[in-house]
Amino acid sequence: MKITVVGAGAVGATCADNIARKELASELVLLDIKEGLAEGKAQDMMQTAALLGFDTRITGTTNDYSKTQNSDVVIVTSGIPRKPGMTREELIGTNAGIVKNVCENILKHSPNAILLVVSNPMDTMTYLALTSTGLPKNRIIGMGGALDSARFRFQLSQQLGCSPADLNAVVVGGHGDTTMIPLIRTATWNSVPVAKFLSAEQQKQIVSDTMVGGATLTKLLGTSAWYAPGAAGAALVEAIVRDEKKLFTCCVSLNGEYGQKDICLGVPVVIGRNGWEKIVEFDLNDEEKAAFNKSADAVRNMNDVLKTL
Ligand code: LAC
Repeated sequence: MKITVVGAGAVGATCADNIARKELASELVLLDIKEGLAEGKAQDMMQTAALLGFDTRITGTTNDYSKTQNSDVVIVTSGIPRKPGMTREELIGTNAGIVKNVCENILKHSPNAILLVVSNPMDTMTYLALTSTGLPKNRIIGMGGALDSARFRFQLSQQLGCSPADLNAVVVGGHGDTTMIPLIRTATWNSVPVAKFLSAEQQKQIVSDTMVGGATLTKLLGTSAWYAPGAAGAALVEAIVRDEKKLFTCCVSLNGEYGQKDICLGVPVVIGRNGWEKIVEFDLNDEEKAAFNKSADAVRNMNDVLKTL
């Protein structure tokens, strides 16, 4: 198995580090446009191999896509991250050109790769990857919902005083501060609805803290987060390479599912060796459906900006 991570910034490097520790590939390539960055981080990570006991071979390259040849999975993290006070959507002008170019270059050398899109605004970058490459839709996966659902489980675990691993909770819709929809009604603690243990006030707080999860960290860190985004990317890679058929919320192309078409948006999907293999349709109530449609409208408006660039 060969995996490439494009972008050796904090998210890309953390994702690569997780992939190596889990030995998800025999070969892992880190690529960046900044001279020496990917080579340096790859070498630094390789120097942990003797300590951590992994056998993945990590190499770095400055923009030489021939080194990424025949990758099975490619994670696209390139682009600028947001600064405090910025929305993910404000990055579109810069990141659209970068993501389009990266996808073209990757496919020249790895025509069969599954693409995992992490760059922001993630829903629109996933849509751009799909429409600009013309790849089968199952091979384009946006990572946002997997991250947002992990953040939702964290927020729930704080209030419940329990392990995040015991919680089942998903965030659907867009990967934006106002477009994501933490589905608290269906969230459970080992199969018991969390609503049994939380007041309406607490539930509201958990939902709003989840929605600004990324923005809160951007404010604290001065740039966007990397541990959870990197781990979310690696968890999806794991589900692909091990053909786990795990259910994650991911941003995928909708063709009538959840009442939407010609858009990439976060919904529960089964992830396996073929990329996303199946969309699972949850029964949303009227309020959740309305929120989902509103989220789709916002993402569609952002997708329309692509035409003006
Ligand atoms: C975040 C960025 C990666 O949510 O979108 O932290």
